[in-house]
Amino acid sequence: MELCEAVHLWQAEPGWLNTASYGLPPRPTVDAVRTALLEWQRGAGPWADWDASTGRARGAFARLVGAEPADVAVGAAVSQLLAPVAASLPAGANVVVPDIEFTSNLFPWLVQDLNVRTVPPHRLADAIDGRTAAVAFSVVQSATGEVAPVDDIVRAARAGGALVVADATQAVGWLPVDATRFDVMACAAYKWLMAPRGAAFCYVSPAVRDLIRPSAAGWYAGEEHAYYGPPLRLATSARRFDISPAWFSYVGAVPSLELLTDIGIERIRDHNVALADRFMAGLGLPAAGSAIVSVDRPDAAERLESAGIRAAVRDGRLRASFHLYTTEADVDAALNALT
Ligand SMILES: Cc1ncc(COP(=O)(O)O)c(C=O)c1O
Repeated sequence: MELCEAVHLWQAEPGWLNTASYGLPPRPTVDAVRTALLEWQRGAGPWADWDASTGRARGAFARLVGAEPADVAVGAAVSQLLAPVAASLPAGANVVVPDIEFTSNLFPWLVQDLNVRTVPPHRLADAIDGRTAAVAFSVVQSATGEVAPVDDIVRAARAGGALVVADATQAVGWLPVDATRFDVMACAAYKWLMAPRGAAFCYVSPAVRDLIRPSAAGWYAGEEHAYYGPPLRLATSARRFDISPAWFSYVGAVPSLELLTDIGIERIRDHNVALADRFMAGLGLPAAGSAIVSVDRPDAAERLESAGIRAAVRDGRLRASFHLYTTEADVDAALNALT
């Protein structure tokens, strides 16, 4: 589908510059969730139909990140999917993480008996050495929109034998991402993938699958949905890390993910980054090359609120984010409010 046709699928009120907090669903997503809720209300929906959405969403996510569906696990949140990875490292192992990392990819390491060191994002690759057991980082930083130097980080990690764990929540959906470069890559779907909260994916490379204990396993992690009784019979694929899906979140994830694939991520990136660049230029700032930008504007909160612009403001810094339903008019309204 052409992007110019797709934009009619949203009914956003003008001024939503906050996809980095949550993405807005296109109409087919809202319709699919509404239908499922009504089926649920009437007791008319076989749960297997809702459940089938999980498989379709897994497949669509895999396509989006260049992975095999068998290498993708499902769950509800990034931290939940990363917890077994962190728990599988030996006590005292060295882990490096950017100091501004969103805590869903920091606390899972900190709660374990690990030696976690945080460094500024631009120093991450240099901080990896032969004693590093794992490096964990976001492909796009949540606070700043900074795109990680993935080549440098992966090269340093491979040279030292460190596990590479990426959080692609702020990247997949607008930035082309190849999950297979990482050992593990988690992604929450409620932002750039425009799904309801409660759907999250985790690529687990076949090379490291057996090194991670699926400590959250339940019936859904079993081969052929293992309902009752022993023995332990885990799926051989990454499904062994599955956590029973929040059905309606996955019902909603399918149309959103399929629409993204249909439009094409490169086109979405070009659209989003052009809007972000327009915003930066309007403020007299250099282009950042990201769909998320962060600028120092101590008075932004009141100015934007009075103009009906919704963006994130924290500690005097404004974080604005631009997705395929954002328009030039949204950007210009924000610039009018700020300048
Ligand atoms: C980079 C990043 N990862 C993950 C999340 C959400 O994490 P979780 O799914 O654990 O709630 C966010 C939310 O802002 C985020 O920005």
